[in-house]
Amino acid sequence: MADAEPKTNQEQDVNPWSVAGAQNEAGEVVAIDYLALSKKWNTSLIDDAILERFEKVTGHKPHRWMRRGLFFSHRDFERILDRYEEGKPFFLYTGRGPSSGSLHLGHTIPLEFTRWLQEVFDVPLVFMLTDDEKALFNEKLTFETALEFAMENARDIIALGFDVKKTFLYSDLKYVSNHILMNAWEFSKYIPFNQVRGAFGFDGSTNIGKIFFPAVQCVAAFATSYPEIWSDEPAKTRTKEIASIPCLIPMGIDQDPYFRLLRDNAHRMRFPSPKPALIHSKFLTALQGAGGKMSSSNPNSAIFMTDTAKQIKAKINKHAFSGGQETLELQRELGGNPDIDVSYIYLTYFEEDDAKLEQLHKDYKSGALLTGELKKLAIEALQKVVADFQERRAKVTDEVLESFMKPRKLHWGGNPNPKPKADKETKDLPIQTKA
Ligand code: TYM
Repeated sequence: MADAEPKTNQEQDVNPWSVAGAQNEAGEVVAIDYLALSKKWNTSLIDDAILERFEKVTGHKPHRWMRRGLFFSHRDFERILDRYEEGKPFFLYTGRGPSSGSLHLGHTIPLEFTRWLQEVFDVPLVFMLTDDEKALFNEKLTFETALEFAMENARDIIALGFDVKKTFLYSDLKYVSNHILMNAWEFSKYIPFNQVRGAFGFDGSTNIGKIFFPAVQCVAAFATSYPEIWSDEPAKTRTKEIASIPCLIPMGIDQDPYFRLLRDNAHRMRFPSPKPALIHSKFLTALQGAGGKMSSSNPNSAIFMTDTAKQIKAKINKHAFSGGQETLELQRELGGNPDIDVSYIYLTYFEEDDAKLEQLHKDYKSGALLTGELKKLAIEALQKVVADFQERRAKVTDEVLESFMKPRKLHWGGNPNPKPKADKETKDLPIQTKA
């Protein structure tokens, strides 16, 4: 006997351009399975051992997003902790693709985390705005408009609180030349089309700009791409010494395919850099629930950093998926499911107090807390995050923008109490091993 409904049973699909949870046999989208993703892509999970080591080495309690598994996976993060412990230099690299004039709350997660890491480690940060990527991947977007978006996004990024002494923020369309361009050309020379075709979904009709672009995003992790930031007298050519400075890249897990390509091929460069270390976040869920990410392409899925308090209230009340019961009486009697409730999920990001969060979880489950009450707490928390951000954003003048985007020597302190190891014991990041 044939089934009345065709079985969909589709696998989850996570890539740098779109994120969709799996569909079950009833055709319903289910939550992203991050453990399966980590297993499939062969990443390491952030476990208690690495959290303890982080605290011991840095003297800082891990960020609540690490404690709560929202940053859940990594590659070689422990080697960055080794470097920090020994007082050896490394840098942070992250980025944003300016697809619109404003960030949404989801984008701010890896960026705020990067800001915090910069404060904890006291190291330089390079921040790439991929206006080139966005114009190449969106047929309707001109390069001029992508550049304008990049400049608007740059103000948002500055408003997150990065330290200007240690941060170089750049637009690809303006900065990619000289050493970083030479790195991109050289890197592209070692990558056969076969290696990117499958991973990035390219085919014979793909424009050749898209095919080259991954080289640009990848080589931004090479210290040689930024001769200015290391010295008042920048190296005239790329050097082995600068190439040896490793990097840590915080990001949403969708960006991992770029950096697998990089880790597989970094050793082939004339002046090889170590494989970059990576730390991955989960996606801040769409308002509609855990099967999708907050995304600019669906405005109803996202809280934008330009939203007013009123808009935030309306979006949460109208769109935020609820794990509560249909009626107040049923909620009191049966309780709700906080783990699938979008308002509760948002509170796991923005409520600092672990004990308070646990109590909310218990109360919602038991029925002591109602859906409307939980939504109110989420609305207040998000209104505060966005209003504080908007206040800082208003203070980003043209001069401030220029000071972040000028190629120049950066100034940082690193570990104030390093414990150098005996020479031979030092575990540097691997240059030659497989990804
Ligand atoms: P973009 O602009 O798509 O995203 C910027 C950063 O935000 C993450 N992200 C999210 N994180 C949590 N929840 C969400 N809902 C969410 N949506 C997006 C992304 O994973 C990313 O970390 N090509 C890149 C720009 C880039 C980059 C990098 C990113 C260049 N170099 C190095 C990370 C690291 C892009 O278009 O990002």
